[in-house]
Amino acid sequence: ANNWIDVSALQDVPEEDVTGVEADGRDIALYSVEGQVYATANICTHGHARLCDGFLDGFEIECPLHQGKFDIRDGRPTCEPVTEPVRSYPVKIEGGRVFVDLG
Ligand code: FES
Repeated sequence: ANNWIDVSALQDVPEEDVTGVEADGRDIALYSVEGQVYATANICTHGHARLCDGFLDGFEIECPLHQGKFDIRDGRPTCEPVTEPVRSYPVKIEGGRVFVDLG
């Protein structure tokens, strides 16, 4: 089932960058790349680090703790030491708001 949650104003998601939001008790990372918004869980699957404190390079987010990387489009790991995907969430924009489907 869909569970669309209004998580942010679109204008609050920095372009070509990442920010963290709380939604429904979950920590979510929001990314804006080339005018598209993407969402993943904000906690790295390798250790307890927040991806919003990391470095976004194109479609890759680099974890601030051990520099593992994920593809923000689907959450798959792209650089060690991360091996587990991070959960990614569907995003839609309506009326200037960002909605994330928490499922
Ligand atoms: Fe993210 Fe280790 S905690 S790479």
